[in-house]
Amino acid sequence: MSVRIGVVGGGQLARMMIAPAVELGLDLRVLAEQPGMSAALAATAVGDYRDIDTVRAFARDVDVITFDHEHVPQPVLRALVDAGVAVHPGPDALQFAQDKLLMRARLAELGMPQPDWAAVTDAAGLQAFLDAHDGRAVVKTPRGGYDGKGVRVVRSAEEAEDWIRALAEAGAGDALLVEELVAFRRELAQQVARTPAGDVASYAVVETVQRDGVCAEVIAPAPHTAARLEVVAREIGLAIAHGLGVTGMLAVELFETEDERLLVNELAMRPHNSGHWSQDGAVTGQFEQHLRAVLGLPLGDPSPRQPWAVMVNILGGPTEGTMADRLPAALAEHAGAKVHTYGKDPRPGRKVGHVTAVGSDLDEVCYDARAVAAQFD
Ligand SMILES: Nc1ncnc2c1ncn2[C@@H]1O[C@H](COP(=O)(O)OP(=O)(O)OP(=O)(O)O)[C@@H](O)[C@H]1O
Ligand SMILES: [Mg+2]
Repeated sequence: MSVRIGVVGGGQLARMMIAPAVELGLDLRVLAEQPGMSAALAATAVGDYRDIDTVRAFARDVDVITFDHEHVPQPVLRALVDAGVAVHPGPDALQFAQDKLLMRARLAELGMPQPDWAAVTDAAGLQAFLDAHDGRAVVKTPRGGYDGKGVRVVRSAEEAEDWIRALAEAGAGDALLVEELVAFRRELAQQVARTPAGDVASYAVVETVQRDGVCAEVIAPAPHTAARLEVVAREIGLAIAHGLGVTGMLAVELFETEDERLLVNELAMRPHNSGHWSQDGAVTGQFEQHLRAVLGLPLGDPSPRQPWAVMVNILGGPTEGTMADRLPAALAEHAGAKVHTYGKDPRPGRKVGHVTAVGSDLDEVCYDARAVAAQFD
C-alpha cells in the first residue's frame, strides 16, 4: 500500500502537490472546504477544517497530515497530535505562522532582525508607537490575513479605529501588531525545507514584487544580490527552520533595506507563492520537496536548473471568456514557458494561475513570462 498524505485545504497549493505525489507513487488525499475547489481532483473529503471531528475523521486514514494554508485552529491541531497523528508542520511550529504577534516575540528571542514592532491594545498605544516612528506605521491583524488583507499603513490611530473597536469587542487578551513602516529597497524570500529529523535544503533567495499587497512576480535568484546578503538570507532561513522546529517547506518573507540589511516580514510553513518558480526552475520543486520533507524522505536538490527563472502570477484572469479560451494563444506565445492554472473562476485580483520561464538572459526570461501571462488578461 502506498504512503498516504492528507492535505487540509483544497486550494492551489494542494492542487500543485498532486502531480509530484503521483510521480512518487504517494497517495495524496485532500480535505477540501467545498466541492469543485482547485484540488478537487484529489479531494476525498469535503468539510470544515475548523471542526475537530471532521479533521480527525479525515486524518484517520492517512499517515501524515499537512496543509494548504495555516488556518487550522490550534485546538484542532492539538487534538490530532493527541490522537497520535503525525502532523507536519506541527502545532508548536505552526503557531508562529498563524499569529504574527507570537512570531514577532519568538523571532526576537531567536535574535532575528525585524522591523520595530509592538503589540497594541488601544488607540493610545497605537498613537504612542506612531509618535515614536515619524507618525507612520503598519498595523496588522495578527491572525487570518492573506494577500495584504489585514495589513494597513496608518498615519493616525483613527485610521485603525475599526480594528481597535473589534479588539475591544473581542475582549481581553487580544492585540494588534504594529510595525515601523520599512522603507525597503525590495522584498525577498528565502525558502528552506526541513525534515522531522532536522535535515535541511535551502533554495536561492528570490526577489518578490507585490502589487496592491499581492505577489505579482518572482525573480529567482534575486538579481544583483551581494554574496554576503545571500549568505545572511540563508542563515536566517535555517535559523528559523531549526529554531521553530519547522517541518516541510518554510518561506521567510524579507525586506532588504536601503542600507543592505535584511528584516523578517513574515513566515509561511507550506509551499509559498515565492517558490512557484522552483517547479520549473529547480532540480526539485517546492511541492515535491514539501512532500519529501513531511514524510521524512531524503530531500531533493534545490539547485536552479538555469541561471534565471521568472514567475508571473495570473491575477484576476480573463475579463471575457475562460482560462481555457486563452490557453492556445498563451502556449503559442512562447514554447519554453510553463503555464500553471488553478481551476478557479476569474475574479478581479484573484490568483488563478501563474507562468514560469527560465533561461540565461534575465530580460528575455522576464519578457517571455510576462507575455505569456498577459494572454490571460
Ligand atoms: N512593516 C512594513 N513596512 C513596509 N511594508 C510592509 C510592512 N509590512 C508589510 N508590508 C507590505 O505589505 C505586504 C503584505 O504584508 P504581510 O506579508 O505581512 O501580509 P499578508 O497579507 O499576511 O501576506 P501575504 O500577502 O504574503 O499573504 C508586504 O509584502 C509588504 O509589501
Ligand atoms: Mg506576506
